This record gives sequence, structure tokens and C-alpha cells, in this order.
Amino acid sequence: MRMPQRSVLACLLTLALATIAGSCGEQDPRDLAADDKPPHVDRDSIGAPGVSDSLFPGAGNGGYDALHYDLDLTVVPGSAKGAKADRVLSGSAAMTAKATQKLSRFNLDLSGLEVHKVTVDGRPAWYRHKGTELVITPRKRLAKGAEFKVVVAYDGNPKALPGKGAPDDGWRSTDDGAFVMGEPRGAMTWYPVNNTLRDPATYDIDITVPGGLTGVSNGTYAGKKAAGDGKQTFSWRNKDQTLPYLTALAVGKFELKQGKTASGVPVVTAIDPRQAAKGRQLAERIPEFVEWGERHFGPYPVSSAGAILDHDPGNQVALETIGRPVYGEVPEDTVFAHEYAHMWFGDSVRLTDWSEIWLNEGFATYAMWMWDDEHDVATMEDQIAAYSDMPAVWEYPPGKVTRPDRVFGAPVYIRGALALHQLRLTVGDKTFTKILKAWTSRYAGKAATVKDFIALAEEESGKSLTKLFDEWLFQPGRPSGF
Ligand code: ARG
Ligand code: ZN
Repeated sequence: MRMPQRSVLACLLTLALATIAGSCGEQDPRDLAADDKPPHVDRDSIGAPGVSDSLFPGAGNGGYDALHYDLDLTVVPGSAKGAKADRVLSGSAAMTAKATQKLSRFNLDLSGLEVHKVTVDGRPAWYRHKGTELVITPRKRLAKGAEFKVVVAYDGNPKALPGKGAPDDGWRSTDDGAFVMGEPRGAMTWYPVNNTLRDPATYDIDITVPGGLTGVSNGTYAGKKAAGDGKQTFSWRNKDQTLPYLTALAVGKFELKQGKTASGVPVVTAIDPRQAAKGRQLAERIPEFVEWGERHFGPYPVSSAGAILDHDPGNQVALETIGRPVYGEVPEDTVFAHEYAHMWFGDSVRLTDWSEIWLNEGFATYAMWMWDDEHDVATMEDQIAAYSDMPAVWEYPPGKVTRPDRVFGAPVYIRGALALHQLRLTVGDKTFTKILKAWTSRYAGKAATVKDFIALAEEESGKSLTKLFDEWLFQPGRPSGF
């Protein structure tokens, strides 16, 4: 039976309640001497510990631009033979980066977990791990413009960031393994990272797991090989510029399948065998969702497609991990359409600041309504009428979110989608599609702001839309006449 529409979205919206607390897994600060004394650090060569996101000022780090991550991880779930409860994850994380200033000290973000060694360009470096900051002092100051490689050896039992009454942000254990939903900040619960919207990178991820289990991530599947001890290593190569929150990891029993869409996009699906009956059917229809998105939003912007359908009963949250969204249950088509829409809105066209999450969630929610309208699930008019009756929708305007616990709120998703509907009514269907396609093509693989969207909509429609957007995105209360 199809879940009633409102409860599907309500599930996505339980996220609204998540309070994203500050630091977690606090460890004693300690300087580990690589050999003798740390080098002199002058103030003007220290990378900033945050990049001043308006909602998460401590997230991300200044002083460098991450280019590529190479993660070599071993995951032995608590339920596996020989598991150590405190050492579920162990690994080595390499980041290749370019210094954007002279740099004698810089940070990575890492929540919980224990760091055992850090090298910079192959030489041991000093480090201190306090809260979610891993502070690294290389032996030699890096010159501005220098490319360097940091390798962090670490292990521990990953835990999601604390959230209140909502699915947590980050690592999530399942009965046969784990998966990650790391939006907005949970990537740092499984690897050291420049955890910001401002620094996408490419990723090679190798996941070693006990026999019988599978490790899944983004990008293309580069095969598996024996890793000794009955373990196997699964290799993933992701060449799309990817934000940390969009990196996927799932470990468990999975059916791994590969295919292609008609236009040649490789499709990889990972399905928990307990979801096989429903999951396979949905997975086979991935080309249909991709083609649907292409019709409305423009060329598919990611170099692979697929889905991770895990088994986490009752968890109806999904996350648009790049090319391969992750689900705790086999979702309704409409949720699948929502996550696919994020490939254009969020994964390809990126946010610059979490306060502008409307550009992701308002658009993906409107995509759900479009899907349902076109597939005779519910008409656009009926959905709009039902949703606009929910008082929570009008609690605050969605254009610039001012509190971390509002990032996934009803106004962002629903009033945000209603705002797009108003735009459509104002400019007409044809121009509306033209605007969406111009947005995804002009900013494909780039960061863009709400201001950029408004400017583009005005340009494409030849209309002044300032008043409409001001009323729908920035003014409190239900817009007059609606
Ligand atoms: N972007 C997701 C969606 O709307 C929500 C992710 C929520 N984050 C989380 N850590 N559970 O589909
Ligand atoms: Zn979404």
C-alpha cells in the first residue's frame, strides 16, 4: 500500500527537530612528538579552524583546498566474527591538498575516533585532536600554492553527532553493518575531512570488510579483492567533485548490481537482501527516474547513478549521496524522485552556506510534487492545498535559515516548494522549465546562491521577481492572498 503523501514528507521532516550540538567525542589534547620539538609556528601561517558558515561556523578549515581523498578503511561491524566493539572502523585517510596561504599549522575535522599517526608529505607531523578539530603541525612550513599530502591513521567506534529526537547526523549502525547519512556535518564521524560546503574533492574509497559483507560507496565500482583473514576489499572511484556530506559508506549484506541507462550512465545498486523483492523493482527503474529528471531539469549531471537500499527498519530518512542516494528502507517513488532531483539541486549545483538549504530542499520537494502529479499519485493542486494547511509550514521564511535546528524544517521543504510553484504560476510552465534548466546548466558543478537564482529567474523570464521572492522567501508569515 502506498503511504499517504503527507506522512512521507512528514518523515523527511522529522529531521527538522534535530538540534545539531557542538563538539563530540572530546579527547584530551595531546601533542605527540614525531621526534624532537615542534617547529616554530607564526600566527600568520595558521590555517583558520572554521570557514564561517553562518550556521556552523566551526565546520571546515581555512588555509588549503582539498583536491582528493584516498580512504583505505576496514569496517568490522559489531555483529561480525572477531569484532572489537571499540574498533569497528580502522583506516588510513589521505588528503591531497593545495595550500592557499603559507601554512605552518592547519586543521582537519574529525569527530570521535582515535588518531594514531599523522604524516605530511611522508614525514611524521605533530597533531592534537580536541573536540572535532584535528590540529596538524607539519615539520616544515608549507609554501603558499604548494601541493601536499596528509595521511591520518586512526580507528575507533564511530558515532553520529548528537541530535535531538531525529535521526542523527553521521554514522549509523545496522544489524549487519552500518551506513552513513552525513548531512550536514556527519562526514567527520568516519574520516578526517575539510568538512565544508566550500571544498568539494574527488574520492577513492577502499572498504575492507569481513567475508560475506559488502562495502559500498560512490562513483564507479573498481572490483573486489581478497584482503587476508577472509576479508575482502571493495574499491570505489569517484571522479565527480563531491562535498563531504554527499560521500557514502555502507557496509552489510548487499546484492551489488551494475547496469547502464540508455544514455550510457553506469548504474550501481546495492540492495539489502531483505529488501530484495521491492528493492530490485525500484532499482530496475532507475533509468526512468534519470530520464524523468533530464526532461525537467536538464542533462544528468553526475557520472554514475544508482541507490543504496539498506535495511534500517523505521528509518525513512534518505540522503542524496552523490550518484547513489542511501535509504534505510525501500522508499516510495516520490521520495526516490526527491533524492534524484538532488543530483541536479545540491549535488551538482552546490550551496555556499547552510542557511541557503532552500536551494536544495525546496527544489527537491517541488520535484516530488511534480512526480506525483505526472504519475497520478496526487495532483499538484491537492498537494498544495494539503500542505498549506500545516501550520508548521509558515513558522519562518525559508530563504535564509537562521538556526541550525531549522535546516531540515517544514518551511524549508514545503514553503520552499510553494515558493517555486508561485514562480511557475507567475512565469508560466515553459519559462519555469527554462529557468530550472538554465540554473542547472549555468551552475553545473559550481556553487551558487539564492541571489544567483533570483537573478537568473529574472533574466530568463524578463520579469521583475524581487517582490515575489521577497514575500515567499524572506518575509515572515503566510504571504498575503495565498
Ligand atoms: N537531504 C536529505 C533529504 O531531504 C535529508 C538529510 C538529513 N540528514 C541526516 N543526517 N539525516 O532527503
Ligand atoms: Zn532532500
